[in-house]
Amino acid sequence: MTNNSTIDRKDFLKQVGMGFGAIMLMNCLQSCSETEIPDPDPIVNTDKLDFSIDITAAGNTALQTKGGFLVVGTKKVIIARTLSDTWIAVSSACTHEGTTINYRASSNDFLCPNHLSTFSETGAVTKSPATSALKKYNATFSVNTNTVRVFE
Ligand code: FES
Repeated sequence: MTNNSTIDRKDFLKQVGMGFGAIMLMNCLQSCSETEIPDPDPIVNTDKLDFSIDITAAGNTALQTKGGFLVVGTKKVIIARTLSDTWIAVSSACTHEGTTINYRASSNDFLCPNHLSTFSETGAVTKSPATSALKKYNATFSVNTNTVRVFE
């Protein structure tokens, strides 16, 4: 730039360019922050396990007794009613080689009959050869409907 009131071409373009760039940056920042378009078809995770069973129905009556258990094969879940009348649900396939596990009321844990791995009521491995925990689910009982709900 010169000392008088004139401006040379190079300085003019530099100033105009910086001004234009600043305006474009502001527009971009505003449009990015203000016009977020909602997803019209959001993906909802429907894979979460959530089912209920009636303990008075044929085939489910083992759960009418404290200490009883039931394997729901279609869901790959074992539901146990503890001796203290609480409800437990974990994945029924042993994490070693997939054998269906059993519930042991006296020790309140799960036993795999294949290679004798054991799992706690939370699904944690308490005896190998299994090394991975069973998946634990929430289990609630409704006295009004005589149903156990198992869900994630
Ligand atoms: S399959 Fe369960 S311990 Fe091997």
